[in-house]
Amino acid sequence: MIKSSKVLVICASPRHNGNSAILAAAAAEGAKKAGHEVETVFLDDYVEGMLRDCRTCRNVEGNCSIDDRYSELFLGKFLPADAVIFATPLHYYGMTGRLKTFFDRIFCFTSDSAPDGSSHAQSLQNKQIGLLISCEESYPGATLGLVAQFQELTRYNRQSFVGYCVGIANSRGEIIHDPTDPVASAHKLGEHIMDLTETDYRFDSERSNNVWSTK
Ligand SMILES: Cc1cc2nc3c(=O)[nH]c(=O)nc-3n(C[C@H](O)[C@H](O)[C@H](O)COP(=O)(O)O)c2cc1C
Repeated sequence: MIKSSKVLVICASPRHNGNSAILAAAAAEGAKKAGHEVETVFLDDYVEGMLRDCRTCRNVEGNCSIDDRYSELFLGKFLPADAVIFATPLHYYGMTGRLKTFFDRIFCFTSDSAPDGSSHAQSLQNKQIGLLISCEESYPGATLGLVAQFQELTRYNRQSFVGYCVGIANSRGEIIHDPTDPVASAHKLGEHIMDLTETDYRFDSERSNNVWSTK
């Protein structure tokens, strides 16, 4: 029997019917197929303000006072999730500014000086993370920086970056015509998001010769 997990899909494009949204929907469908509890959100429904100096914008109780729905997303959906799949268009060779702000503002809730900071920092860890990228340019260097950034930020947060896929498209919705079928890859990533493992071996790491169990 498959254990049901909580999977959160975050779409970081301002186009709710664009290419990233198509990848996000496919990943959500895959995760649902695997029996997981899945929720999809659009980041611009939750995140408006950028990170500021916490010393000037925390309220008297010490909570972040930026007036948007970030805390609803971060505390109510992101922290309880077992897996999070981010879908973002490539904007100037990186994630969208709003998604970067999502990561920047984690600090406001997990630093030592934030209320319940250490418990939030604890809940941040041990998540399966997937990444779906939509971009116009197909050369591998275009997305390398973003993939490397995810590798580092998930390592720092003690999360597992278990997979990513890149789809080539520009006008709204044309990602379905990418012959490498990133929509199917996103579906598979969603379906297997809880089964995949992140490995980082040294020559003497003890391991089986087989990566995949054939049983
Ligand atoms: C502000 C902006 C910056 C972009 N920068 C890049 C880029 O650096 N490289 C690239 O390949 N595509 C770039 N694009 C194209 C988008 O990544 C592409 O159109 C993508 O499919 C849009 O996804 P969406 O429909 O989910 O918004 C950019 C688009 C915009 C609007």
